Amino acid sequence: MTAGQSEEPFLLQMRGIVKTFPGVRALDGVDLRVRAGEVHCLLGQNGAGKSTLIKVLAGAHQPDAGSIELRGEPVSLTSPIAALRAGVATMYQELDLVPWLSVAENVFLGGELSRFGFGRRGATRAKTRQLLGRLGHPEINPSVAVAALPPAAQQLVSMARALAHDAAIIVMDEPSAALASDEVKNLFRVIGELTAAGVSVIYISHRLEEIRQIGHRVTVLKDGRTVATELDAKTTPTRELVAFMTGRALEHAFPQRTSVPTGEPLLKVEGLTRRGEFADVSFQVRPGEVVGIAGLVGAGRSEVLETIAGARRPDAGRVEVGGKSLRSGSVPAAVRAGMGLAPEERKSQGLVLGMSVAHNLTLATMSRFAGAGLVRRGEELRAARDLTGQLQLRPADPRREVRTLSGGNQQKVVVGRWLMRGSKVLLLDEPTRGVDVGARAEMYRLIRELADSGVAVVIVSSEVPEVLGLADRVLVMREGQVIHEAAAGELTEADVLDMVMEGSVSVINVTDTSDAADVIEVVDEPEVSEATGPAGATDETEAAGATDETEATGTTDTTGVKDAADVSDPATGEDRR
Ligand SMILES: Nc1ncnc2c1ncn2[C@@H]1O[C@H](COP(=O)(O)OP(=O)(O)OP(=O)(O)O)[C@@H](O)[C@H]1O
Ligand SMILES: [Mg+2]
Repeated sequence: MTAGQSEEPFLLQMRGIVKTFPGVRALDGVDLRVRAGEVHCLLGQNGAGKSTLIKVLAGAHQPDAGSIELRGEPVSLTSPIAALRAGVATMYQELDLVPWLSVAENVFLGGELSRFGFGRRGATRAKTRQLLGRLGHPEINPSVAVAALPPAAQQLVSMARALAHDAAIIVMDEPSAALASDEVKNLFRVIGELTAAGVSVIYISHRLEEIRQIGHRVTVLKDGRTVATELDAKTTPTRELVAFMTGRALEHAFPQRTSVPTGEPLLKVEGLTRRGEFADVSFQVRPGEVVGIAGLVGAGRSEVLETIAGARRPDAGRVEVGGKSLRSGSVPAAVRAGMGLAPEERKSQGLVLGMSVAHNLTLATMSRFAGAGLVRRGEELRAARDLTGQLQLRPADPRREVRTLSGGNQQKVVVGRWLMRGSKVLLLDEPTRGVDVGARAEMYRLIRELADSGVAVVIVSSEVPEVLGLADRVLVMREGQVIHEAAAGELTEADVLDMVMEGSVSVINVTDTSDAADVIEVVDEPEVSEATGPAGATDETEAAGATDETEATGTTDTTGVKDAADVSDPATGEDRR
């Protein structure tokens, strides 16, 4: 560090921040210093304390000890509104928009324009439109309810909100996790504009290449402590960053592919079509094979997986498992045929937040542990403990409530459940989103082991190197079409990016009400679909059908088609005797 730098005054200084939750010391004396106009990156493994630290800065958590200074003055950030007024705006890892309010209302919640009530709708709408335009999405309608938007568009609304308050510091907790590569480009452009205007950005991501691209300095957290700070984001070797994060050197390696699978295809998809989403998708997966689907968010990849798994009904085409045709649009039929779908949206689709890790892991595997109708707790716990060890869950206690886990650790539970359940055909949608580098390598190894044991795996990922490294064969999708298929070894990252970007138009379609109805299937508060009714998406039959299935399972925390996929297995009791 040069003398000049150290004399520069810090815009933000957090010192000795401590935050404990029952049984966990999430922050154990963290220091963070941020200069005006820099992109300051926070790195650390899942559960290191990054989100907790920024929630303290955002006024959402009160620290047990420590001090915060802004521009050299001590401040007390007693609430999110107080933090916003002090100039700190935050984009949380888990979106915290109010689903039944409009886009514009969300953007200005707690801000200047709303002081006059929502009476000034015209002004808030115009300003919102302008902000969304700046983010590259003028087509998002400020008047529509947030619940009616796809996740990527919701992320943009959350960004617009952070921009709306003319903050001095904007905190972004894994903003890129829900975005496709062209969206990330937009985000980086906006970050560049912000820092040029003197705004500081605190940026959290598990993708080191992003940190290289936009970061200035890096602070690394490990087990609730600052273990390194003032690292140069561009030049610090990856090996060094990873060693700070993990306490050991670690290569980000993909497992060795074993033999080329030659058996009869286990999964056959033929001419699968859903109007407005994807058309004529055909491919086959042999036992032992991993097929990767690359493409932008909005290319139809998740929709294809959900249709294969019976959560959406195709307009044409068919799915075969082990040579037998599946009844289309039926989750229980797919589950009985041995299919498992690990969905994209963990909070709304996969997890029962109020239950333990062990329980969530075994939710879909119940029949294995149910002796005479009783769940054998000991066995459940033992199996869960094995898996939490393999996936490096932190804290490694399977009895902990999922609600209290960090974002990346929740994701490990979602995926872990499916790895544990003994599916013949496993569909994984963005399995490593938000998962740190160490645990990723472990997840890749588990997926490869499952394939080696004869499972047919389909994986969707927005990270092209992951698709190329993990899959045997790759399908590239664009705008609902499979535009290319090749062995993973025959493609480079640049090839795939060229294909997915070429001629691509707006990837987020938010004006079509039939889209809106599909989104309502997957929001996590059941009453939301009623609340958003007036926004114009009430009478879609599929949404209603999905709700029925979910109710039958008696789960209260979640809803939507994908939950039905998750929980209908124990309900149908595959081999319950
Ligand atoms: N509300 C809570 N109650 C109990 N424990 C919590 C709560 N929130 C966080 N924790 C715990 O605090 C620790 C730090 O979590 P945090 O969410 O800050 O991690 P993170 O660095 O953001 O991880 P990730 O990369 O997975 O998002 C974890 O052990 C987590 O389980
Ligand atoms: Mg986090």
